Amino acid sequence: MLIRKVSESISKIREFTDKEVDIGLILGSGLAPIADRLENKVIIPYSEIPHFKESTAPGHEGRFIFGDLDGVPLLCMQGRLHYYEGYSMQEVTYPIRVMAKLGLKKLIITNACGGLDPNGKPGDLMLITDHINFTGSNPLIGHNEDDFGPRFPDMTRAYDPDLGALALQVAEDLDIPLSQGVYIGYSGPSFETPAEIRWMQTWGAHAVGMSTVPEVIVAVHSGLKVLGMSCITNLAAGILDEPLSSEEVIVAAGEASAKFVRLISEIINRM
Ligand code: HPA
Repeated sequence: MLIRKVSESISKIREFTDKEVDIGLILGSGLAPIADRLENKVIIPYSEIPHFKESTAPGHEGRFIFGDLDGVPLLCMQGRLHYYEGYSMQEVTYPIRVMAKLGLKKLIITNACGGLDPNGKPGDLMLITDHINFTGSNPLIGHNEDDFGPRFPDMTRAYDPDLGALALQVAEDLDIPLSQGVYIGYSGPSFETPAEIRWMQTWGAHAVGMSTVPEVIVAVHSGLKVLGMSCITNLAAGILDEPLSSEEVIVAAGEASAKFVRLISEIINRM
């Protein structure tokens, strides 16, 4: 039973801290530096928590960090799990289950992704307004435990409109350009082909990446309000006549990180 596993994970976490937190933050590539700004940190490696899997992706540490950002208590996931690491969709999203049962109410999900707009450029930031699940799976497949959420959760407002409006207002106030768009989730780990990218463009997607979608589905199922924010690290395959590499993704995410951190920090301040 999922509920028993989650309770065991929470018992262990509660041996480290009894801090009550409302807001969770999944740190995508490039956002790791936000963790350096946290005060009163309690760091819990996933390896210490029963039923958690290790994060194997480059640049992903694999730990929960409780801490205060300018006085606001947060729970950060530094290092997420991806479907392409070979984990099941349920394993990938297990930490979200734990966050929800810890009592969190809001979840900020960030990622690095490829841009589908030929006029975009590496370092652009995008508010996710909706998504397309092109991973070929869904983390809710299988028995539904009603303690967690409904069998058929509504996804009409998966990305909370009020949190989205707040993000746009903060971006304007800080003079940080922030576009809005649809994120399409792909399993990876191969990057998409140019033909797939052309097809995704016709579907109305604006950014493509290998995370986020399963996490958002489980967050919505768990009743969490979601804010999704993307950092476009490259133009998607075939838009420029150049090969893609994970190194360029990490470099571009690092270069955009200062403004991304500034934006996310101020949003959290005003949440
Ligand atoms: N495709 C998929 N995932 C990504 C990309 C991309 O172009 N860039 C960063 N993550």
